[in-house]
Amino acid sequence: MDAIEVITTKRDGRPLSAAQIDWVIGAYTAGGVADEQMSALAMAILLNGMDRREIADWTAAMIRSGERMDWSALDRPTADKHSTGGVGDKITLPLAPLVAACGAYVPQLSGRGLGHTGGTLDKLESIAGWRASLSNDEMLAVLRGAGAVICAAGGGLAPADKKLYALRDVTGTVESIPLIASSIMSKKIAEGTGALVLDVKVGSGAFMKTVDDARELAATMVGLGADAGVATVALLTAMDRPLGRAVGNALEVAEAVEVLAGGGPADVVELTVRLAREMLDTAGVHGKDPEDALMDGSAMDAWRRMVAAQGGDPDAVLPSAAETVQITAPASGVLRRLDAYGVGLAAWRLGAGRARKEDPVSLGAGVTLHAGFGDIVRAGQPLMTLHADETERFERALEALDGAYEVGPASDPDALPLIIDRITA
Ligand code: URA
Repeated sequence: MDAIEVITTKRDGRPLSAAQIDWVIGAYTAGGVADEQMSALAMAILLNGMDRREIADWTAAMIRSGERMDWSALDRPTADKHSTGGVGDKITLPLAPLVAACGAYVPQLSGRGLGHTGGTLDKLESIAGWRASLSNDEMLAVLRGAGAVICAAGGGLAPADKKLYALRDVTGTVESIPLIASSIMSKKIAEGTGALVLDVKVGSGAFMKTVDDARELAATMVGLGADAGVATVALLTAMDRPLGRAVGNALEVAEAVEVLAGGGPADVVELTVRLAREMLDTAGVHGKDPEDALMDGSAMDAWRRMVAAQGGDPDAVLPSAAETVQITAPASGVLRRLDAYGVGLAAWRLGAGRARKEDPVSLGAGVTLHAGFGDIVRAGQPLMTLHADETERFERALEALDGAYEVGPASDPDALPLIIDRITA
């Protein structure tokens, strides 16, 4: 077998055989297929697609490229959540300890932000001392002690995906449903969770801009989970506006802690509780209700244990940016549009995100929203505060927000509901 044969099969619109997929993923991981050959294949897949059998074979080959974690030594079921990413999406932070407080173990491997969407590990690094990199033994110890762990995936987990994702990022081949589904699910299946809930975001701030595309991605991933013996459910949720009132690393940690203390913005609380119930149901755990665990302090206790077990100080003062600029409402009426992409881009330009994966992020930078989407506002009242370490960042952030919000006489009838649909196998 050689790479040209595999590339031309897909270029000519024919399905790849299991043997071709197995060979090309194995050879690419080992360095026997060059980056330019793999990018040609990724582009052929983006243009010509893959059928369900090919996607399953591709996912299985990526899982086989590395280790598969095993939590069978634990005495309770495991459950995890994966979000396809969005603006202000800090849900993992309160969700993991919340589900732990309700009786399931949560082994959560998370990523860093790239572009306008944030990353859970960057957010948690706002907490002094907190460590993202853990060995498998340390992960197990944190899980046993706190019930939940959030950390970076080690290099041994789906290494084929690590290499391929970096290549797709620079060759215009990210936006392919078969490649996104297999990339996400290879990591989640290799992570060894028993139950998985997918939060597939829809709207300007998400990969998937339309409900139809998001439904196809969700159904593909749910099918891959079921085929691999991982009980998987997906929710389609709105990402046409930011989630909650805080966008940026430390700002989002503060909001997550508010939720764990029984407060926080209504949309963040609603989605956290709904995802927690889905995770517990999917894992077959029927103990405490998540709403009760937020109110009785047990979710907060699990959060404090989890942060401390990873070297963090749960009482540390969070970093804040040196400079702020306030934006006020241009008119009185309803905040009928608050574009997720525009706000995410502004936060990124303020320093909350990175342009290249080796860039540092500013922990205190970002956007605080003083009014949420659909709220009534008065002309001149504060609408947003922008936070940055350097004043020169504000100009380009303000440009990103130009046209990203609108105050009008009535709500937008086309706005997406927070929870749009639920997809099962
Ligand atoms: N996240 C992933 O892990 N992989 C993709 O392909 C897209 C988003």
